[in-house]
Amino acid sequence: MPRRTDPVVPVGCLGNADQPAISAGDLLLRPWARTDADTLLAAFSDPAIQHWHARTVDSRPEAVALIGSYQQAWREETAAQWAVAEPGGEVTGRIALRAIDLVQGCAEVAYWVLPAARGRGIAATATKAVSGWAFGIGLHRLELDHSVANLASCRVAEKAGFAYEGTKRGAALHTDGWHDMHLHARISGDA
Ligand SMILES: CC(C)(COP(=O)(O)OP(=O)(O)OC[C@H]1O[C@@H](n2cnc3c(N)ncnc32)[C@H](O)[C@@H]1OP(=O)(O)O)[C@@H](O)C(=O)NCCC(=O)NCCS
Repeated sequence: MPRRTDPVVPVGCLGNADQPAISAGDLLLRPWARTDADTLLAAFSDPAIQHWHARTVDSRPEAVALIGSYQQAWREETAAQWAVAEPGGEVTGRIALRAIDLVQGCAEVAYWVLPAARGRGIAATATKAVSGWAFGIGLHRLELDHSVANLASCRVAEKAGFAYEGTKRGAALHTDGWHDMHLHARISGDA
């Protein structure tokens, strides 16, 4: 069926090109490579990342497969996943746009940071940089949600300019049960 409105971002504009790297101050957001498998494995052994993320990664082959799925999602224009690399090249975090909908012009932001690198502003810096990139390609609205119990993530959202829009009741199932979720969002043109 024809649509009354054109796609907000032309379909094919992501997947037909290589995923770019993005500068974020001293940090570099770059596509994941198979050689990052051990970093992913370490990340998913962290109890906090296990708590707040539904996925498990228990072996190197699973980590390699996950990186392959990131690369496929880029080609399919459904998600964009970046490793967050420090000036020396060490990967200390992950920033992502999930649920990309080019037709509607929206996506969801997701992140984690390795325990030893937390509290240095990495998540907020990466979120701001990826938001700038997303609005630059023409996306209109970015959402960010987190459990009401995840206070650090709420702070990241605030620092990255994602306004609080409301609380979704019983919206995410974690291993300890259903969590109410804060919805934050930033739209193109927000300060
Ligand atoms: C949430 C997470 C990504 C934050 O990464 P980070 O790089 O440390 O984030 P930043 O340094 O940019 O900001 C963290 C903010 O949260 C605050 N914070 C940290 N722990 C907190 C807590 N228990 N209560 C309240 N605020 C807290 C910090 O003080 C900081 O705010 P400030 O700069 O105003 O002092 C990281 O803690 C993490 O990976 N946690 C586990 C996985 C996760 O929660 N992922 C997100 C799921 S929605």
